[in-house]
Amino acid sequence: MPVTTCIFDAYGTLFDVTAAARQAAAEPGRGLLAENWQKLAAHWRTKQLQYTWIRALAGTHANFWTVTQQALDWALEAMELHGDPELRERLLALYWELAAFPEVPGMLKALKIAGRQTAILSNGSPDMLRGAVESAGIGDVLDDVLSVESVGIFKPHPSVYDLVGKRFGCKREQVLFVSSNGWDAAAASGYGFTAAWVNRAGEPVDRLPWQPAHVLSDLSGIPDLAGRL
Ligand code: LAC
Repeated sequence: MPVTTCIFDAYGTLFDVTAAARQAAAEPGRGLLAENWQKLAAHWRTKQLQYTWIRALAGTHANFWTVTQQALDWALEAMELHGDPELRERLLALYWELAAFPEVPGMLKALKIAGRQTAILSNGSPDMLRGAVESAGIGDVLDDVLSVESVGIFKPHPSVYDLVGKRFGCKREQVLFVSSNGWDAAAASGYGFTAAWVNRAGEPVDRLPWQPAHVLSDLSGIPDLAGRL
């Protein structure tokens, strides 16, 4: 069945989650962070995702901005950078306006020219996503931005993936779901979407009960892939 609707994860997929730590580290006077920004970014992301899964399992939802701040506080303390409130504020401000990967605007535009519907489906809260979409300038090539906040539970709960059919009236087989998070692509595949995993870092495939149908090294091949399905 042809793909009518291309759905994208946001953080890590369209937006580079390491950009906040990298940009802060390049600023004058960042000392310890300048040497260790990759480690801070990795701790921040790992804890952020762990907290979403734990909250979903425990039935204790909080919005993604709260989780993002709590994960950052853990990461800063782990790196002994927690005594610098200005650094915390700076990192959060940079996270609000994360850079999109360079191929994102052209890739979304090509999908729109081919007549496909495009949207984000993200753990991000609506205001965070608005900030990122605006600063990347991609609002005009997205038909919608769907947030888990409308169901009050994080990915990979199926009620999150249900938001796509509810919004676009499409069947699961008509959806190409794109994520750089292996677990998200796997779970979306288990849900019944055709899933593409954007494996920028060349990581091993996740050992889960489902696997993504397609693996790409960046997003530039998505319009072609959508046309071939
Ligand atoms: C998101 C996280 C999983 O945007 O990256 O949903």
